[in-house]
Amino acid sequence: MASLNLNQIISNSNTSFAVNRRPGLRLPSRIGLRVLASDSASAEPDLSITVNGLQMPNPFVIGSGPPGTNYTVMKRAFDEGWGAVVAKTVSLDAAKVINVTPRYARLRAGANGSAKGQIIGWENIELISDRPLETMLKEFKQLKALYPDKILIASIMEEYNKAAWEELIDRVEETGIDAIEVNFSCPHGMPERKMGAAVGQDCRLLEEVCGWINAKATVPVWAKMTPNITDITEPARVALRSGSEGVSAINTIMSVMGIDLKTLRPEPCVEGYSTPGGYSCKAVHPIALGKVMSIAKMMKSEFNDKDYSLSGIGGVETGGDAAEFILLGANTVQVCTGVMMHGYGLVKRLCEELKDFMKMHNFSSIEDFRGISKDATRSNPTKESSQERTAV
Ligand SMILES: Cc1cc2nc3c(=O)[nH]c(=O)nc-3n(C[C@H](O)[C@H](O)[C@H](O)COP(=O)(O)O)c2cc1C
Repeated sequence: MASLNLNQIISNSNTSFAVNRRPGLRLPSRIGLRVLASDSASAEPDLSITVNGLQMPNPFVIGSGPPGTNYTVMKRAFDEGWGAVVAKTVSLDAAKVINVTPRYARLRAGANGSAKGQIIGWENIELISDRPLETMLKEFKQLKALYPDKILIASIMEEYNKAAWEELIDRVEETGIDAIEVNFSCPHGMPERKMGAAVGQDCRLLEEVCGWINAKATVPVWAKMTPNITDITEPARVALRSGSEGVSAINTIMSVMGIDLKTLRPEPCVEGYSTPGGYSCKAVHPIALGKVMSIAKMMKSEFNDKDYSLSGIGGVETGGDAAEFILLGANTVQVCTGVMMHGYGLVKRLCEELKDFMKMHNFSSIEDFRGISKDATRSNPTKESSQERTAV
């Protein structure tokens, strides 16, 4: 028993059992120990969470993108201790996807973007995975065989075609993945084929496609939202009403990193051409917090937010950044560009910093503080509300 850690403790509806990897052997409950441990002044805060029935040792999730692009890097993420991994987005036919180089441009703090300045903004014009679907599926299967208890989430995107979405869902689910995140949000991800943000920005289309997906999927579905829309609560509401278990926000923000003043071409530039791309990293964090706060408030007022989940994404590089998302109501926190810059070991620092924050406030679990800051805000003043305030 001594070798079990507290994060391996689960409770079912009536009785609690430690997670047991040997079928047939029932281990006694350690929930009592957890309660005692969290009551003690010297106890470590418990970062473990259960979200849509998925148990994670901590709320830190690899966000879809280069850090979840193949077996080797996803295995590395699990080995380093990430709570879950969202793989790079896949679709049925990778042959349609051509990823160009260079596809990234960086914004640095400091005078004239000095090469020594800290990277604060990151633009990419990367599309979804260009690796054959069969290869990605084989690797999902291998990962689940090696790590049956770790949470692997497939990110999917398809054209406006019910049969194609259904086939893709069938094929990813056959690998044993634990959940699906649907990419309704890539700003440059083939909108001409009604893919990515082209769906997330059109609530009628979203409702129809989300309906197909939720009728088919047998694992929890998270709908990933685009910030490139006037009111992000509208698509989030549609996604939840259409049966999704969760919402993830945000994907990248439509951007042009800059213009090369010698060549007069926008960056990043490939053979003389460019296209607007998606902005991420520290610079988007305040915008992401604003979007997550709006969604969290909507979820609380219109849905029983205990039954649904919210994944905060955007510019996370510290445990404090993650705490902010959780304080606004997020259950999990995803990191993409932060991992590209600091490596997979970042999760250890994130966990330590989040624990330090929790100790400072005597929070013993994530639920102790989830959502408590969103209630300290009011809506922006509208005509009506400012009249109300004047009257008061
Ligand atoms: C290079 C790059 C590629 C990305 N590819 C995907 C993708 O395939 N699917 C997806 O849903 N999001 C993708 N994203 C968006 C991230 O998952 C995330 O939503 C966004 O970058 C904001 O978080 P961050 O600041 O932690 O990177 C990508 C981001 C970057 C930087």
